[in-house]
Amino acid sequence: MEISNLPKHVGIIMDGNGRWAKLRNKNRSYGHQVGSKNVDTIVSHAFKSGVKALTLYAFSSENWARPVEEVDKLMKLIEQYLKKFIKKVVKNGVRLSIIGSRENLSENLVKLISECEEMSKANTDRYLNIALNYGGRGEIVRAVNKLILENKEITEKAILESLDTADCGEVDLIIRTGGEKRLSNFLLYQGAYSELYFTDVLWPDFKKEEFDKAIEEFSKRNRRFGKV
Ligand code: IPE
Ligand code: IPE
Ligand code: MG
Repeated sequence: MEISNLPKHVGIIMDGNGRWAKLRNKNRSYGHQVGSKNVDTIVSHAFKSGVKALTLYAFSSENWARPVEEVDKLMKLIEQYLKKFIKKVVKNGVRLSIIGSRENLSENLVKLISECEEMSKANTDRYLNIALNYGGRGEIVRAVNKLILENKEITEKAILESLDTADCGEVDLIIRTGGEKRLSNFLLYQGAYSELYFTDVLWPDFKKEEFDKAIEEFSKRNRRFGKV
């Protein structure tokens, strides 16, 4: 697909796994399993399309309130994803960052995250951020506290550059699958001027063609940033 006006940084709220499973009389975890398989498809496709940075919402700071079995399954799937795709990611020149708080994550997962980030830290072609135990408000608080500790002035620019997504700047387009029309605490600061794209398609069904539709819609939007 040839599109002149591509978003540089895209965020995706990968929602609807639970409902996808329910429609098939399966448990929610099955939906997460199928949904997790879709991640690699969309990551590869987005980078092939020319997107420079991709931020995926995998687990919010509020998702801890779900049943413990579901949380455990999600953590396991994230661990599997990291183990399975890290080599491919590194080979393709992608810098992988797990954004969000490390608090409450298992020791094993924290270690794996550090290893993955270390392996890909020299890459600067493209950026893949996985938002895990992430909330936009918490991220802003962490960014401001970092600046205070470093004795730096608190300015809008300094906060933007102190966020977990510092290398990727603002987010041009936020896609949410699954039909809900809300941000659920995702990229609140860097998304101040994002274009928003909502689709009813549930995450496990959100394939390349659906991604292309979102990009096409973005390319037609008139971004005014407050001007006339
Ligand atoms: C998104 O799917 C995955 C996570 C939030 C981890 P959901 O699990 O929220 O699916 P629905 O919204 O209940 O269908
Ligand atoms: C947002 O989805 C979080 C992720 C997709 C990881 P939720 O399903 O948790 O959001 P709400 O509860 O509908 O706002
Ligand atoms: Mg949901």
